[in-house]
Amino acid sequence: MSGASVDECLLRVATSIGTPSFVYFTEPIVARAAALQAAFGGRFALSYAAKSNPNPALLGWLKDHVAFLDVSSIGEFRLGTQAGWEPARASFTGPGKRDFELKEAIEGGLGELVLESVREAIAADRIAGSLGRVQHVLVRIAPSRVPKGFGDQMAGRPSAFGIDVEEIHEAFPKILALPNLRVTGLHIYSGTQCLKPDAIAENYRTFLSIFREVCDRYDLAPEKLVFGSGLGIPYHDGDKPLDLAAVAGGIIGDLDALKGEARFASTQLVLELGRYLVGEAGYFVTRVISVKESRGNRIGICDGGMNNHLPASGHFGMVIHRNYAMHKVGGGDPAEKIDLVGPLCTSIDRLANGVVLPRIEEGDLIAVHNSGAYGLTASPIHFISHAAPREVLVEANAPRDVTRQLGDIA
Ligand SMILES: Cc1ncc(COP(=O)(O)O)c(C=O)c1O
Repeated sequence: MSGASVDECLLRVATSIGTPSFVYFTEPIVARAAALQAAFGGRFALSYAAKSNPNPALLGWLKDHVAFLDVSSIGEFRLGTQAGWEPARASFTGPGKRDFELKEAIEGGLGELVLESVREAIAADRIAGSLGRVQHVLVRIAPSRVPKGFGDQMAGRPSAFGIDVEEIHEAFPKILALPNLRVTGLHIYSGTQCLKPDAIAENYRTFLSIFREVCDRYDLAPEKLVFGSGLGIPYHDGDKPLDLAAVAGGIIGDLDALKGEARFASTQLVLELGRYLVGEAGYFVTRVISVKESRGNRIGICDGGMNNHLPASGHFGMVIHRNYAMHKVGGGDPAEKIDLVGPLCTSIDRLANGVVLPRIEEGDLIAVHNSGAYGLTASPIHFISHAAPREVLVEANAPRDVTRQLGDIA
């Protein structure tokens, strides 16, 4: 989509639906899914991580475009199934699943439970047995090493996620012995937000060697092997977009070698991801309520800030605040530095420090890029009790108000 047609739509949304608003365009998601299929030559099925954006209308739209859904709470499982996903297409990850969540998911026909510990396996076995079910499970393994370059690391150091690879031979026989669970595959998610193709390919090679070793040792012919994608997006000016062809080029040969082995011939390889699919398809649109001059700085005070979009304010895994890419809706030549803050009574509610934009005046609209993933879902929406921001899904250039009310946001 051209910048002009995005802006025309954002302006329409701001005028007819309101601000602050998250606007999600489906067209770039379709393009992303197609780019992934093309780059990997269809070797991976995609699994969408609901945590990145669980808006119900978006989930409903995604069910016709992505093979699987990964949920990390019973709330996400409910959102997915209410949006029309068959429960059999869902997997359930997360280190702190409670018994009532396990029960509801197993009873509800969950596809695969992703086991994060032996403790969880024992609880799931007991619950599945009490329901007269045999639950399919994937065992999540935490590698001992993650290459440099991932924005957040879930393994390679002490970690709550999955079973440490060093412990796997202690744990695996115990899981295999549980009568009400059937191990149908393995799962690794060890890092997110990486823009370095070599590091991502190297990480996948680590997964492959763990998968092969465990399957050989326990004579498993897995139905599924899940690869946590780690594919990153360029959040900040100066970040280079990920070279997807280089990632694929660095791993396709290894994937084919695995698939060439008899035990993996009918294994489905799955890429689990959120931000790479939907992150760049979303904008956060906020209106400038007032502009203040303070001790030599211009400060634009906006109608939405960290309460709606914590990551853009720099408080979601970022040590130093770096401005998200953003623009003034309607454009113009960048001319002037301005700080942009939200409406909250705290100095940490900042969307931009010294960003250079066309001159900003009261009433102008700012569009924060890369807001399709980890926007509203990752934000302290109740802080200072503003209303929920609008959410808008744009299909074929037609914006649809898909706002959730505060009480509906889990
Ligand atoms: C288990 C698991 N799956 C999927 C994801 C989605 O990651 P991303 O949105 O970076 O693709 C995460 C992110 O933390 C995760 O922990």
